[in-house]
Amino acid sequence: MRMVDLIQKKRDGLELSKEEIQYIINGYTNDEIPDYQVSAFTMAVFFKDMTDRERADLTMAMVESGDTIDLSGIEGIKVDKHSTGGVGDTTTLVLGPLVASVGVPVAKMSGRGLGHTGGTIDKLEAVEGFHVEIENDEFIRLVNENKIAVIGQSGNLTPADKKLYSLRDVTATVNSIPLIASSIMSKKIAAGADAIVLDVKTGAGAFMKDLDDAKELAGAMVSIGNAVGRKTMAVISDMSQPLGYAIGNALEVKEAIDTLRGEGPEDLLDLCLELGSYMVYLAEKASSLEKAREMLQEAIESGKALDAFKVFLSAQGGDGSVVDHPEKLPQAKFKIELEAKEEGYVSEIVADAVGTAAMWLGAGRETKESVIDLAVGLMLNKKIGDKVEKGDSLVTIYSNQENIESVKEKLYESIKLSFEEVKAPKLIHATISK
Ligand code: URA
Ligand code: CA
Repeated sequence: MRMVDLIQKKRDGLELSKEEIQYIINGYTNDEIPDYQVSAFTMAVFFKDMTDRERADLTMAMVESGDTIDLSGIEGIKVDKHSTGGVGDTTTLVLGPLVASVGVPVAKMSGRGLGHTGGTIDKLEAVEGFHVEIENDEFIRLVNENKIAVIGQSGNLTPADKKLYSLRDVTATVNSIPLIASSIMSKKIAAGADAIVLDVKTGAGAFMKDLDDAKELAGAMVSIGNAVGRKTMAVISDMSQPLGYAIGNALEVKEAIDTLRGEGPEDLLDLCLELGSYMVYLAEKASSLEKAREMLQEAIESGKALDAFKVFLSAQGGDGSVVDHPEKLPQAKFKIELEAKEEGYVSEIVADAVGTAAMWLGAGRETKESVIDLAVGLMLNKKIGDKVEKGDSLVTIYSNQENIESVKEKLYESIKLSFEEVKAPKLIHATISK
């Protein structure tokens, strides 16, 4: 086989065989095919697309390019959730203990965040003593015992995707549905998921700003998952404003505790119940989505979900008493109100810009080396559709610096007011299954 022929084949819109796709991915992973040829190939895919079969083969070729995590020691169907990324997205912190408390095994491999706010591990580390540096056997044992554990990323998972993603980043080929879908799905499959629930975000703060694009991406990932024997479902949820009120690590842990107690923001709870129902259903712990939702609601009302969070934190060295005493979480020195300069209705809260403001406070990393401040962040006091009087606090800023003019300016730019009444956006735009 010659790479140049395969580039030409794709350039001309023809379908590549499984062997041809494996040849490209293996050759690239082993440095036998140069960047310039793979660049030409990804550009050809960008313009000519891939069939469902090609997409599934590309995904599995990337899975097989490196290590895969063996979760066979865990009883039950392992369902993983993936979000295409949002601002102040506290769902993972809520969903883990919530679905674990009804018997769904949650074996989560997670990372640290870059930009916006921290990743799941950063957030959990706001709990004194909590750590994810555990051995594999310990991880498996904890999931069997408590139904939930989180481990840091280890092993050489999907090296082909790492190389390809970096290359796409500098060749204007990130934004291609077959390439994004195979990239995301390969990582979930390599991490050991039997079934996958996807939360595809859409709106101003999301990677897929347009609803039709989000639907197309979701459909592509659902097709890949089902084609390779992993039941997959997707929810398309709104990111035209941040989810919940809290953006920042300790603040989001507090928000997760409130939500597990049934006292959290409504949008966050709704999305968690929606995604959670799919997870419970795919894990075959409920015979219908309605039953799954009832089980989750009962787990919140009875306190079972909150207990699962406590047990999970303690099992990994954390101070589980924060669940009853959230004031033990890291606290910022200053609480500064962002006052509305005029009256009106909130019409827009540009989520990624708000995430950037939180990052400037220290809640997220500007570079991989940045040290984050777990205590700082933002609490939104208004959401889209809310009526605002002049002088009302739009946001409470939790900061360890007193001078935060640039943060305030960024927030004023991101929160737009209109004279006319505004309707709150729909939270769940669509759900997609096979
Ligand atoms: N996220 C991924 O993991 N891969 C992509 O290609 C795009 C977004
Ligand atoms: Ca939040």
